[in-house]
Amino acid sequence: MASLPSNKGKVAIIGSGLIGRCWSVLFSSAGYNVALYDTVASQLSTALTSIEAQLCDMESKGLMRVDGMTAQKALQLVSSFDDLQKAVDGALYVQECTPENVDLKKKVFANLDSFVTSDKTILASSTSCLVPSKFTESLTHRKQCIVAHPVITVSFIPGGGGDLVKSCVSTCYPEPSKLTRNGYILRDLLSQYNPQKNPNYGINPPYYVPLVEIVPAPWTDSDVVDRTVALMKEIGQAPVVTKKEVNGFIFNRLQYAIIMEAWRLVEDGVCSPEDVETTITEGLGLRYSLIGPFETMQLNANGIRDYCERYGANIKHVCEEQGGPRSLSGETLDKLEKELNQTMPLEQLNERRSLRDKRLAALAIHRQHEDKENES
Ligand SMILES: NC(=O)c1ccc[n+]([C@@H]2O[C@H](COP(=O)([O-])OP(=O)(O)OC[C@H]3O[C@@H](n4cnc5c(N)ncnc54)[C@H](O)[C@@H]3O)[C@@H](O)[C@H]2O)c1
Repeated sequence: MASLPSNKGKVAIIGSGLIGRCWSVLFSSAGYNVALYDTVASQLSTALTSIEAQLCDMESKGLMRVDGMTAQKALQLVSSFDDLQKAVDGALYVQECTPENVDLKKKVFANLDSFVTSDKTILASSTSCLVPSKFTESLTHRKQCIVAHPVITVSFIPGGGGDLVKSCVSTCYPEPSKLTRNGYILRDLLSQYNPQKNPNYGINPPYYVPLVEIVPAPWTDSDVVDRTVALMKEIGQAPVVTKKEVNGFIFNRLQYAIIMEAWRLVEDGVCSPEDVETTITEGLGLRYSLIGPFETMQLNANGIRDYCERYGANIKHVCEEQGGPRSLSGETLDKLEKELNQTMPLEQLNERRSLRDKRLAALAIHRQHEDKENES
């Protein structure tokens, strides 16, 4: 498929599964030429159909990233390639989206390193769990390498996304039989993964959840960080930057703290799982969809210093009482599993995922309208 020339420039997407498709949608809807590369020809052809469907969905919800852009115009900016060198030729930005396997990422980045001719091209990885120093250290262009991790919920759709759980589990969690809950790597999803049996898992694309975590390696140029952040903002994403490499990046470190305390509250018999859920959905979550913890501190007293002086000692005391991490297994898991399977039977999970995605889409549209109103 020949693409229309765009004066914004060219972006190469390496790997056309779930995440490669999402990035293609984001960049093309913002007016970039997208060169989509995969080693599997059938993935590329199904990717184009899926990209078109996502672009139409985005257009119908008024979420295209530049004025005047339509799904059809954006689709014409996307071309598929079976030759890596041609795909990256002249690209200003490369987004790697191959399965979560450190040896594969090393190989793909070594190939990218050999084909990139400009010292300005940014080489970004979508990895969910790997810090960039694990697969970029020996490269000639290592100063140009970075992680740009889109925060989306794991989804299983035919021809995309399926390998994430398996590969992430083998990369980060070598003993999947012991795996219980860990962010979006869920043992129950793993055991259910069967695209033939469950072909309709929902997708929760990054235009509903715009956060992108930018993680530089110790040797990444600061200019590469700045340009990646600027590009992400330009395509309508919300970038956050880690100043050093940490496991879990930012999103999962915060998410895991909440999961762990929710677990302790139930394990220690303080409240029911249902009341934990209600506390988030009817309380904390409502606030946190608008302002973060630091703004909360600033607003809930006469500034953050006053907040810390009034409540700091008590917060420290409660946190000391919370104690360390618990093992996510045993009787508490049995109890949670029983309750959740009653209120949310496994056969109804697809319906719940669709409802979640519908509500996220409605929230994204609402926020976009609000932002426009506040600007005018
Ligand atoms: N799925 C998610 O929810 C999610 C969220 C955030 C980040 N990520 C990260 O994004 C990356 C991709 O995940 P995914 O879910 O899209 O995986 P996926 O399994 O859906 O797609 C991977 C694609 O890469 C292709 N591929 C394999 N080897 C290749 C190679 N050498 N060169 C080019 N293409 C190759 C495959 O054919 C496939 O089309 C992973 O690092 C993952 O951790 C995934």
